[in-house]
Amino acid sequence: MYWKKLTHDEINARIKTAISQNINYRETPLLGIPGSFLDEEGFYPDAPFLEDSPFLSTLINNPNHIGCHTLTKDKSEPFFRGTQQLELEVIRICAEEILQGEKDAQDGYIAPGGTEANLQAVWIYRNFYQKEYSASINEIAIIYSEDSHYSMPKAANILGLKQYVVDVDFETRQIHLNDFEKKINSARKDGVNYFIVIQNMATTMFGSVDKIESITNYLDDNEINYKLHVDGAFGGFIYPFTNSNNRLNFKNKNITSFTLDAHKMLQTPYGTGIFIVRKGLMKYGLTDEANYVSGKDYTICGSRSGANAISIWMTLMAHGSIGWKVKMEKLLDKTASVCSKLDRLGIEYYRNPNINLIAIKAEYISEKIVRKYHLIADTSDEKPKWMKVVVMQHVKKGVLQQFLSELENERDGIKL
Ligand SMILES: Cc1ncc(COP(=O)(O)O)c(C=O)c1O
Repeated sequence: MYWKKLTHDEINARIKTAISQNINYRETPLLGIPGSFLDEEGFYPDAPFLEDSPFLSTLINNPNHIGCHTLTKDKSEPFFRGTQQLELEVIRICAEEILQGEKDAQDGYIAPGGTEANLQAVWIYRNFYQKEYSASINEIAIIYSEDSHYSMPKAANILGLKQYVVDVDFETRQIHLNDFEKKINSARKDGVNYFIVIQNMATTMFGSVDKIESITNYLDDNEINYKLHVDGAFGGFIYPFTNSNNRLNFKNKNITSFTLDAHKMLQTPYGTGIFIVRKGLMKYGLTDEANYVSGKDYTICGSRSGANAISIWMTLMAHGSIGWKVKMEKLLDKTASVCSKLDRLGIEYYRNPNINLIAIKAEYISEKIVRKYHLIADTSDEKPKWMKVVVMQHVKKGVLQQFLSELENERDGIKL
């Protein structure tokens, strides 16, 4: 995995060139599209800081990256060709460097978030089974673990699909293979012939990573027809950097698509989810009636700001792959030191060693501490079982130490 770090000036220059290759709403006689520059009352184009703020300059330029440019390339909207090129670079780095895909073998786009990227995957696979196997809607189901993100039931609801939720082990958070088999069998009894299988590269509440081989071995041994999507919304920008044995990538032929979320670990603005899929599948997201869009549309969202793609490109380039790995390792170090202290205190928790999240058993934490440190529970019920601490970049060592010493004092019965 390698991409080069660029200097601030190089980044600025590339983005300036990209913007200059887009149309300029102020200069081009552009009569046909219902978009323009940003309203000048709030977004004045001559603000002096714009010169040195490539992301804000792109926002003001207001490119619409509608469509899927890895697929349609020269046929995509010509007005925003310059910044589309940087989106293509982002998708290439994510698909070929981070996710180890072969050259030019993946399609993808910057989605509004992880939810849409997950929906996009399920939508594409539903359409695939309907088109290629003449499957009825009742023959297609999503199967995912109980720790999966709520975008899975949302996808089932929106797309009218059956869903099967698999139990996980309370301590290890790994899928119970017995229950997986049980759910597959009960789905087959319900008439399901085609499965959309979800695997997690770090779940929202636990940071647990699904062990894919046991699942795919079972599916292959039993000749089950499936497509497999990996939800890497939480883990996508950390796990491949912190685990050199990562198996959740395109080298695994059973995986067909991924969700990544730059607006989590990569610290880009909200609106920067990423969907990546093997070539040949994106076409099942085509809306042929999208006649006014050059290159048509293959996404759920339609219009989307090109500035989002630029924010990801800038961040990736500012660090390079080596810098990014170091940054993620630092997060892990911080997380590990919290875990060592919890061990010393005898406080039980779940943690994947390659992820910056600790789920602590709720019985060890008072409500006062939960409220003070804004911990998140596994359920909105009255009796949560777990509380999570996500060691993000803003989480200072001092705050962690204070949190741990308050936990210790409570354990020792000292009222604070
Ligand atoms: C594993 C996982 N998938 C999907 C999502 C949804 O992402 P978004 O909120 O960007 O739609 C999240 C958000 O926390 C997540 O943790």
